[in-house]
Parts: sequence; C-alpha cells; structure tokens
Amino acid sequence: MRRATITGWGKYLPPNVMTNKDLEKIVDTTDEWIQKRTGIKKRRIADEDTATSDLAIEASQEALEKANLDPEELDLIIVSTVTPDMAFPATACIVQDKIGASNAAAFDLEAGCSGFVYGLSVGAQFIESGLYDNVLVIGAETLSKITDWEDRNTCVLFGDGAGAAVLQATDKGGFLAFDLGSDGSGANALYMEAGGSAKPASLETVKNKQHYIRMEGNPVFKFAVKTMKRASLDVLEKAELTTDDINLLIPHQANTRIIKSARRRLKLDEDEVYVNLPELGNTSSASVAIAMAEAKENGKIKNGDNVLLVAFGAGLTWAAAAIEWNENI
Ligand code: UT7
Repeated sequence: MRRATITGWGKYLPPNVMTNKDLEKIVDTTDEWIQKRTGIKKRRIADEDTATSDLAIEASQEALEKANLDPEELDLIIVSTVTPDMAFPATACIVQDKIGASNAAAFDLEAGCSGFVYGLSVGAQFIESGLYDNVLVIGAETLSKITDWEDRNTCVLFGDGAGAAVLQATDKGGFLAFDLGSDGSGANALYMEAGGSAKPASLETVKNKQHYIRMEGNPVFKFAVKTMKRASLDVLEKAELTTDDINLLIPHQANTRIIKSARRRLKLDEDEVYVNLPELGNTSSASVAIAMAEAKENGKIKNGDNVLLVAFGAGLTWAAAAIEWNENI
C-alpha cells in the first residue's frame, strides 16, 4: 500500500531569548507563577523585521537537506500558520519562491495550534492518492507580532519559531492514521478579533487593541485535557495500535500540566513524551513540528518506532497522527 512517510525534518528558532525575568519587567507577573502554572521558562522572539516566511524558509531548507531533495523536486508546499506574512498572498507562495521550489503548488492552512498535524494529513492524502510524490509541510509562527505585551494572561505563554517536514511515498510504515476534529462553538475562547471581514482594521480596532491574541485560558485548558486523550485513543484505534505500542508521544507544547495529564491518562512514562515547552513556550502550529525535529536530532526517534502526534488549538480544533517511523524509502 502506498503511504506517506517523513523523510526530512528541520526547525528554526530566532536567536533572541526572552526569559520569565524579562517578562517580570513588562507585566505584573513572576517567574515562579509562570513556571508553576505553565512550565515555561523562556521563549524565542523574532526581530521586528523578521516575518513568518523567514523562519519557515530556514526550517524548510534544513528539512530538504535531510531528505536529500532539491527544491525543484517539490510538488506541493503547505504552510500552517496563524501569523501569515500578510492576509494574502499565502505565506506558502513566498516560501515557494524564496527556496526555489519552481514546480510546487503552494497554499496556507489555518487550524490554530493543530495546523501542522492538519497539514501533515492533507500532504499525506496527496501522496497516498498518487497525485504528488514530494510534499513539504511547514508550521511557522511569529506570535510575538500579535501578542499584547500588556496582557499577562497571554504574553507569558507564546513564542516564535518554525518546523518543517518532507513527506514522500513508501510501501512500509509511514502515516498509519489521522484523527481530526473541530468544535467551532469554542471559537470565542481563543481568537484575534479584528483585521478580517467581520471587523476590518480601522483606527477604532487599533485603539481597542483588537489585533492581538485573546484567550479564555480555563475553557481552553479543559478542552485540551479532554481532547488530547480522546484524539490519541481514537487515532491509535484507527491505526490498530494501543498505548503500549507507543515509543514517543509528541504533544502540542502549551502547558506542562496539560501534557502531564495526557501522559497519565495514556499511561505513558515520562521518557515516552517529548517536552521542550520550558525552553520555547507555545509556538502554536510550529510547536509539534519543532518538537518532532528536535526529537529526531536528540535520537529520541528510531526507524520502526511508533510515534504519536497530538495537538489542540484555536477553532477549537484537534488533530492526531499515528506514525510508524520510516525515513528510508
Ligand atoms: O495553544 C493553545 C493555546 N492556549 C492554551 O493552551 C492555554 C490553556 N490554558 C492554560 O494553559 C491556563 O489556563 C493558563 C496558564 C493560561 C492559566 O492558568 P490557570 O491555572 O487556568 O489560571 P487562571 O486563568 O484561572 O488564573 C489564576 C490567577 C488569576 O488571578 P485571580 O483571578 O485568581 O486573582 C489570574 O489573574 O492567576 C492570575 N494570572 C496571573 N498571575 C501572574 C493570570 N496570568 C498571570 C500571570 N502572572 N502571567
């Protein structure tokens, strides 16, 4: 059976580090509160003149190198982001041009923090159908650009970065199953109010600070705890696996309490879950992509391992993927 598998992975993090101590100088918060309630110690922040595509390009070039693939061989580029360079054209088109992927179709996909896993599922369908052979899926964010640095409820959580994966065809292993879902009744728990057709940008929207992330932390927390477990179990069932078969869980990096709860509910050991949240904060749709690239770099994923990706985010959405890792096609 023709399946999609990941043959290349890459990440890019802007060099500028912002610590919890730095945040203490900006809003009424403490390093102790942030660490205790979220697990985050620091995050990366992009320069003023760095766009999301700049991070995406760096991560993509690393992933293409790992896959030993020329950019011209790419058939499709999908960028998942909630912080595109601009409303249109798609950030994926900017990446396509700058990396020299002259034969690739390109589009953006928006599913909040679940976007990268959604993107993998879309890319995998194109490969399984036989339409395309080489697909690049990117999760990239510059959340610092839409963060209200006066809002302590959100500004302590987010960071910038990008991760990328090259998908190619295999007849052994690869993506075994996906589980995707949404509950739009939770749309107002996590959103950016203005700048779209419902409320176009105006002097008023800028004055009212409606171009920033707004979040009801508690409902999102509860949704996350519930869906991380349910989506994980659903995707495992589709893949005909159990939690005992999992070698590594790579969850969306939003809050260590959410990750711990998922780990316990799935009865996994600490070393079976990849966590980089303390160093990077929540990078939305880049988070699973970066964590996966890091896990590969750190030798946490070997060929033949069963890897489970699971994410939740704005929408509200969720997404999970079960992979039998096979990078040698
Ligand atoms: O990728 C998806 C994006 N979002 C998430 O994953 C977020 C999910 N939610 C969460 O991670 C948690 O809900 C938060 C970390 C955002 C908040 O933690 P919490 O335990 O749910 O705290 P809370 O919102 O119930 O707030 C507790 C208290 C409040 O004070 P009062 O009302 O009890 O006096 C907040 O005002 O903590 C206060 N607080 C802070 N204090 C110091 C909120 N933010 C801060 C802060 N520093 N940065």
